[in-house]
Amino acid sequence: MEQQAAKKRILSGIQPTGTFTLGNYIGAVRNWSRMQEEYECLYMVANLHALTVRQDPAALRRQTRESAALLLACGIDPAKSILFVQSQVPAHCELSWVLSCCTQFGELSRMTQFKDKSAKHPENVNAGLFTYPCLMAADILIYNADLVPVGADQNQHLELARNVAQRFNNNYSPTFTLPEGYNPKTGARVRSLQEPAKKMSKSDTNANAYILLTDDADTVLRKFKRAVTDSEGAVRAAEDKPGVTNLMGIYSALTGKGLDAIEAEFAGQGYGVFKEAVAGVVIDALRPIQAEYARVLADKEYLDRVLAEGAAAAGRIAGRTLAKVYRKVGMLQ
Ligand code: TYM
Repeated sequence: MEQQAAKKRILSGIQPTGTFTLGNYIGAVRNWSRMQEEYECLYMVANLHALTVRQDPAALRRQTRESAALLLACGIDPAKSILFVQSQVPAHCELSWVLSCCTQFGELSRMTQFKDKSAKHPENVNAGLFTYPCLMAADILIYNADLVPVGADQNQHLELARNVAQRFNNNYSPTFTLPEGYNPKTGARVRSLQEPAKKMSKSDTNANAYILLTDDADTVLRKFKRAVTDSEGAVRAAEDKPGVTNLMGIYSALTGKGLDAIEAEFAGQGYGVFKEAVAGVVIDALRPIQAEYARVLADKEYLDRVLAEGAAAAGRIAGRTLAKVYRKVGMLQ
């Protein structure tokens, strides 16, 4: 029991807005399962966050279950970690309101994701999109998470969560742990295969820009063959070679080889050979995940039980934090 209490706590989440990409996997989810041994972990399907963009209700419900199944397939073990769906722990929303009252308009205006998403959906720049980082701060702070394993695109949100936690602690009394972000050494920013200046994103309108964890071998190979590179023809990492550098990053993340070793391995060989090699390691990495995904999705009862138990366990921790916060800010008991 004592050892349990000494373990650091982890919280992270992923939106169920589509099947996960290779970017989600390498940047975040793969590390989640690796961290289960050493930490006390809570992993969440962030379905409330998905509402900031218009969703089809039936599709969102289905994708929420599929996302949970994919997390299990990627190695999240409910015997070791708490796996839950965000909306099934209502305390996140309650804490989010309190935290939004400790967050400045100016801080939220500086969030690059808000600026990007409002440019992408000018017809729906809703208040939820703006206050999204407050809900994300609540997700993290309600569990007093020490570490948050995310890709680099979430670092700014994490910084805000730290600032809000610190402000709350100063205004009232020490309450929240200040969370640290945890980015993987390689693959913290996997880029689009078509426009390597952009991150690989499941909401990209061009399906050739991303690899989905459910893509079959032929599709993976085809997408890598079409990946944008450059005219030099040399497998070498450089700032002016973002396409090739991105492919090298993917290969590195999945094989553990360094960039120099990869350059040596493919010296004198064209991009064709290299792209096939990258596709090969990706296909090998996805094969066991896809088999397990099919198995978990077919077992509805198991999935429902895991999520019900996860929500109950997360809810107990979240409820305690919320009660403390409500008392400190002056809510009637
Ligand atoms: P989301 O759903 O966009 O992405 C889930 C995780 O995948 C990482 N990621 C990437 N990493 C490397 N390269 C990429 N191309 C790439 N694309 C995505 C993301 O950094 C993320 O770690 N706001 C979050 C979900 C969330 C959350 C939280 C995360 C809600 N509450 C609390 C941590 C803690 C999001 O939209 O992630």
